Amino acid sequence: MNGRIQVLGIAGSLRRASYNRGLIRAAEQVVPEGVDFRTFDLLPIPLFNQDVEAEGDPAPVQELKARIGEADALLIAAPEYNYSIPGVLKNAIDWASRPPNSSSLRHKPIGLMGASPGGFGTARSQLALRQVFLFTKSLVLPEPELYVATAYQKFDQDGDLLDDETRRRVRALLEALIDWTRRVGSAARS
Ligand code: FNR
Repeated sequence: MNGRIQVLGIAGSLRRASYNRGLIRAAEQVVPEGVDFRTFDLLPIPLFNQDVEAEGDPAPVQELKARIGEADALLIAAPEYNYSIPGVLKNAIDWASRPPNSSSLRHKPIGLMGASPGGFGTARSQLALRQVFLFTKSLVLPEPELYVATAYQKFDQDGDLLDDETRRRVRALLEALIDWTRRVGSAARS
């Protein structure tokens, strides 16, 4: 794959001062040359309902699927709730995963990261996401893994990242995701 790469950043939190929204903003600030970075806010996505889906996707879901479809890769910042994926994020993935054999997530390169105040930095949530993305046949970047632990020490009260080492790791993840996307990108577009 040659030319510019489009990355869509999605934070799995609706909280105003969210650490994970802050991580996505940090990624936007360290975007490498040749990359267009956009974001998608999950706030307008309704709860998944197969009856509603049968009548046609609501406009915000159409928008989500279109944005994922046109992106070359996704960068997801996932909080951890009760050792797993927050409902807000899982719900959006459930919408986007349809129809299962031709969804916008199929063969899509995806980078994962996450921040939490705890000591494991969303490791369990990210592992659960890797399992979900097996069903969707998405191409999750194996490494580097990015778990931002004790996030209250690394973000300010508005959720802006203060920590240079984390910023460097976000940049390294983004670079690896771009490299991964260039290598597997033809599969993503097939
Ligand atoms: C949490 N939190 C949390 N943290 C963690 O590391 N492991 C966990 O299992 C949980 N479980 C959990 C459940 C629920 C319902 C809530 C509301 C919170 C704490 C969580 O990491 C913290 O609220 C983060 O600030 C959430 O991410 P954002 O919103 O800052 O991006």
